[in-house]
Amino acid sequence: MKLLMVSLAGVALAGVEAQTARPAPQARQTDVSLASVPKLQWKQRAPGVWMAVIGKPEVGPMAFAGSPRGAALEKLGSPAFPAALAEARGSVHGVYASVRLPLAAEEKLYGLGMRDDGRVDLRSRSYELKVTPSTHAPVPFYISSGGYGVMINTARVLRIQMGIGNRKDAPWLPPEIDRNTNKKWSSRYPSDAVEANITGTGMEVFLFAGKTPLEVVQRYNLYSGGGCLPPRWGLGFWHRMHTLTPAGKVLEEVDEFAKRDLPLDVIGLEPGWQSASYPSTYDWDPTRFPDPAGFVQAMSARGISLNLWINPFISTKSSIYPQLLPYTGSHMYWLGAVPDYTLAPAREIFMAHERKTQLALGISGFKLDEVDEITPEHALFPSGLSGDQMRQIHGMVMQKMQMEAFRGMNRRTYGLVRGSNAGAGAYPFALYSDGYTHRGFVQMIATASLAGVLWCPEVRNGASDEDWLRRFETALFSPVMQLDGWSSGVKPWSRPAVTDAVRSLMKLRYQLLPYLYTAFAEYERSGVPPFRHMVLEPGYAAESKVVAGAVNSETNPYAESRLIEVADQYMFGPSILVAPLFAGESSRKVVLPAGKWFDFYTGKFAGDGETIPVSAPLDRVPLFVKDGGIVPMMAAVERLRSLPGEVPLEVRHYGTKEASYALYDDDGETFDYEKGVFSVQVLRAVRAGGGLKGEAGAASGPWKSRYSAITWKFMAN
Ligand code: GAL
Repeated sequence: MKLLMVSLAGVALAGVEAQTARPAPQARQTDVSLASVPKLQWKQRAPGVWMAVIGKPEVGPMAFAGSPRGAALEKLGSPAFPAALAEARGSVHGVYASVRLPLAAEEKLYGLGMRDDGRVDLRSRSYELKVTPSTHAPVPFYISSGGYGVMINTARVLRIQMGIGNRKDAPWLPPEIDRNTNKKWSSRYPSDAVEANITGTGMEVFLFAGKTPLEVVQRYNLYSGGGCLPPRWGLGFWHRMHTLTPAGKVLEEVDEFAKRDLPLDVIGLEPGWQSASYPSTYDWDPTRFPDPAGFVQAMSARGISLNLWINPFISTKSSIYPQLLPYTGSHMYWLGAVPDYTLAPAREIFMAHERKTQLALGISGFKLDEVDEITPEHALFPSGLSGDQMRQIHGMVMQKMQMEAFRGMNRRTYGLVRGSNAGAGAYPFALYSDGYTHRGFVQMIATASLAGVLWCPEVRNGASDEDWLRRFETALFSPVMQLDGWSSGVKPWSRPAVTDAVRSLMKLRYQLLPYLYTAFAEYERSGVPPFRHMVLEPGYAAESKVVAGAVNSETNPYAESRLIEVADQYMFGPSILVAPLFAGESSRKVVLPAGKWFDFYTGKFAGDGETIPVSAPLDRVPLFVKDGGIVPMMAAVERLRSLPGEVPLEVRHYGTKEASYALYDDDGETFDYEKGVFSVQVLRAVRAGGGLKGEAGAASGPWKSRYSAITWKFMAN
């Protein structure tokens, strides 16, 4: 009691002392002028790529990106430094690092990762880029219509104002509007700069020049080591089993596909392949999978690749838990310890286990789930990273580790990941979630191309046969065509009324394989995404008018020109425009960029730089091909893994233009293409008499192309 009183008296005394010791007000005021913020010192990192440092940068996602693709970057050209960015400034004060990047009045801004809000021009908006289970990849990279893109390399949550928010001494300020008298007043006064900040000690800012938004994206992808080339089998049909399905039942279900004349390439096993989850053990369950090697062997004999679900949270029951425990963070998630795979020893322990118990058996890839969830922000990892940083880059860290494991065996992989960040172009993983509206699916596919990532819908359920089938159609035109029965046990034949339609859609995907695989090869070679947002399409971005009905009505009231905001259609490969129909609709509007466009199915002229109404039956996705589009197609097969050595092709040509197309082929499985083991065959449609005739050059390269016996089909004739 006495002791307590003494200490209480001590506290009171300390309080008095503190009052008398209050510091005098600062003698000198802090300079808050724009001129006091240092200009960024840009250093060239590659042709058309510059980087500047603000403060003391902490780790960012680029530390986990692939290496810049030197030769491909050289080939893309060496554009001049975007002059206006010489005025960019940045500094660190207090707990904030910030950057200010000037904007011209007419610039439009796209990107900032995957979005499902339907916005195209992000100007006059502000965003907080935080990885969560519903944002997945809020990538701090934006593209300006002014001929450049900016990526802010930080693993902190970035707050960014896209031409909104005004400094009092900004070079340009909008006129003040009196809200009392002028209805044009808006809470979003425009500004002459992008401003962004983090709570952190510093950041790196990358600048990518490019004549067009597409060239900017290409340069960003190539600088990040991308794009990726998935194994050929990865582009076939994927089916995810109910989580508790035992080995025998998986085999039965695979055989059922064959009986029903449905193609299939990948089976996904959900958490139930493991001895316990959640949290994960990464060990096979001895009751459901008593003989993993025999099971994988039986699947492989059927030409099926296996994809295993994992999340990053390790169970005490895991055989590698004791080894990994010293490398785990301070806090658990769902009672699983969280290993810090930025540390080499942790990666080695995990990969050794994965190699021995999964890859050696023939497992071909993983679904890296829940990397977008994490322990609290203040959690601490052994590398010194905090919870907020780990959440932003967790997906990158996991993708890099998996890529290393597969590369080490000269085997390509294709997988799924639920969170990612800047610089992921080299990683053959598609983002996914089953929790979206169908329109959300479409917007995610399109906006992913502005961020260097791939997105696929995980079709699970639908509100009706119609909704389910329409979603399935969009899966057909996405990086991974997948049905996910992990909780519902849904199968392609679960809705008998539409099974025939499902079959013909699956077969269309397989028929388009030569075109799809070549589009991915182009992604790998030059950074052009295989599925693209309309702003990357020439003839689209040049348009500057509002088209009623086909547009999102959000426009910037201050912008002089308005962009057609198309968020419900996108490009697939070099020349196909995909305009999905949604449940409840039998027709829609499609915005055709400048140039002639033709109906994919009939070859009929559809329009030229205009908005057209289209309708399609339940089992058809409206597709349009640009003038001179060449689309190589093959007969549907049961498995892509066992594609024969000779594959006859039907090569379609649309419209009336002369055109050429570089058809790509390789072994479909290894990285030997990086050493030149591939073939490219140039297909040409040339004028002959009054019409066109097709020519196929010899396939070049050491790989013997499997495409043979080419038949041309001139769709417009
Ligand atoms: C979810 C994931 C689903 C499924 C499920 C399994 O997080 O989004 O697709 O894999 O986990 O528990």
